[in-house]
Amino acid sequence: MLKNTQPEPWRVKVVESIRRVDRAARQDRLEKAGYNVFSIAAEDIYIDLLTDSGTSAMSDAQWAGLMHGDESYAGGRNYYHFEETIRGIFGLPHVIPTHQGRVAENLLFSTVLKPGDLVPNNTHFDTTRANVEANGGVAVDFVIPEGKEPRTRHPFKGNMDLGRLEKCLAENRGKVPLVMLTLTNNSGGGQPVSLENVRGTSEVCRRFGIPLIIDACRFAENAWFIKQREKGHENRSVGEIVREVFSLSEGCTMSAKKDGLANIGGFLALRNETWVERLKNKLILIEGFPTYGGLAGRDLEAIAIGLKEVLHEDYLAFRVGQVTAFGEGLAAAGVPVIEPIGGHAVYIDARAFAPHIPPEHYPAEALTIALYLEGGIRAVEIGGVMFGKPDPERPGREKLPDLDLVRLAVPRRVYTNTHLEYVAEVTARLRSDPKALRGVRIVKQAPLLRHFTARFELI
Ligand code: F0G
Repeated sequence: MLKNTQPEPWRVKVVESIRRVDRAARQDRLEKAGYNVFSIAAEDIYIDLLTDSGTSAMSDAQWAGLMHGDESYAGGRNYYHFEETIRGIFGLPHVIPTHQGRVAENLLFSTVLKPGDLVPNNTHFDTTRANVEANGGVAVDFVIPEGKEPRTRHPFKGNMDLGRLEKCLAENRGKVPLVMLTLTNNSGGGQPVSLENVRGTSEVCRRFGIPLIIDACRFAENAWFIKQREKGHENRSVGEIVREVFSLSEGCTMSAKKDGLANIGGFLALRNETWVERLKNKLILIEGFPTYGGLAGRDLEAIAIGLKEVLHEDYLAFRVGQVTAFGEGLAAAGVPVIEPIGGHAVYIDARAFAPHIPPEHYPAEALTIALYLEGGIRAVEIGGVMFGKPDPERPGREKLPDLDLVRLAVPRRVYTNTHLEYVAEVTARLRSDPKALRGVRIVKQAPLLRHFTARFELI
């Protein structure tokens, strides 16, 4: 039983059936997919923990909002609601809608980066890194050392290492157009960043005259952790904490598919005008007019409502409580997970889970395959497949990341604790016989973001 005494702050109004295909069918689906769970049809997945992105259940208020969609090409009323909501929550006046977060990143980096520029971040998410690199930049990660140690407990393992940031800015004057901070730190385990660390990062940036841009995907979950864990903030509202965090930045990129509680959407929001005109011109080229940015009017309405709902504290208490209880249940069953548990997902340390599989055989991919075969569960590899690169010093070999993780991301307002108990049971069963897991080799891959489409064979 998950020890989550915080009941759901909603009741169910509509249901969607899910089914578990039998083991022989799961084996067949895996073979046809080249053992890549991204290539399996969602209908053949029982519990889908691939991502918390775009998978939220919308509220009745959001569904009602869709009916208020104004599909005018220019100046539709939903845009003004969207803009006013973002200004109110984040205090950032210039709002540019996009159809998802990576487009906000693409617009930003293609506008401000020169080839050879550096972009420091606590840890870049994969699309952020790819957008930096595709524009000729170098993405560098300066998360604190604790952030890379799966079992070291620290309340804010997403924090930026301010010493390394400062050294980088001092050594690369004129080559760093912006600094980013990812709240919460998805690639590092969904770990939060403290308000003190946002303040410190902002202060270093100000000293060097470099703008701080926040990757705001999970801004509400991050603020909830600040309220729970950081001294002096326990009696403040989440809204106030959010406002202060963003007052320390020059802007943000956002995927509304996470803490926007929407199925599609994103935005860029900026404090000053310097980049706005160029960004809007490019937006018109690739997304659409600046009052819809690749979205339907009704989507803008759903996001505006979602951004307000996500700040409800009973929602956040349940949300983060459910993920914590899930992760602690797994840990209690002997599954090595990143601790403390992050905000939106539980991350399994696959090298510790299956120590017989060397990093070159992608242990996290092996566990992802086993979770589907054993339980119809879809998870995602965040490790050597996602981040491995050819090693210039050892031809034919790869430079691999420090960790091989399997992320079990929990969609918002979608699965009950019983669903997650089932996932915990299946995972614990695999843990009791880890030698049954087999490593993989890559037989086909794309040059960028290869994890989405790579094909594997079992070793
Ligand atoms: N930044 C972070 C921290 C993210 O987690 C994501 C997406 C993005 C940017 C890009 O946003 O998908 O709307 O283009 N993360 C998803 C995930 C895909 O599964 O973690 P997007």
